[in-house]
Amino acid sequence: MPVKILMVCLGNICRSPLAEGILASKLPVDKFFVDSAGTGNYHIGKQPDQRSILVAQKNGLDITRQKARQFSPKDFDEFDYIYVMDSSNYDHVIELAKTEAQKSKVDMILNQLFPGENVDVPDPYYGLQNGFDMVYEMLNETCDILARKLLEKHS
Ligand code: 4NP
Repeated sequence: MPVKILMVCLGNICRSPLAEGILASKLPVDKFFVDSAGTGNYHIGKQPDQRSILVAQKNGLDITRQKARQFSPKDFDEFDYIYVMDSSNYDHVIELAKTEAQKSKVDMILNQLFPGENVDVPDPYYGLQNGFDMVYEMLNETCDILARKLLEKHS
């Protein structure tokens, strides 16, 4: 059984599709499964935002085959680790958790890079391409650390 990791943001079209693509690119596909979801339902079925697709492409990643879906309480059973992009995503996901074990699967993605500081990945949706470039850099740094830890723990 692969280790399963879920990336969560609000719309599942800007930040978590990038987080999914970046982390998946750093892990062997036979041992790890990475997915993403949004707490909101506005963009279900949509491709990632063109600006996320572009920054991914600039960095050699193809995220065009992803489709937005909404986070479901079933994801607590399905996934081993759930990483949220900001504190509002954290509150939404934690609200749906029924047990302490479920809650303990959830953490802020930038806590890999800045342990215990609960720093948000800023929502780039209403900004320009450079906001997406910055989000890519943050996610790439934090996923380097996360991938290293996951590989150490599960090999
Ligand atoms: P994401 O960005 O949560 O990183 O996918 C957003 C996408 C859409 C909206 C907000 C944030 N929206 O309000 O439609």
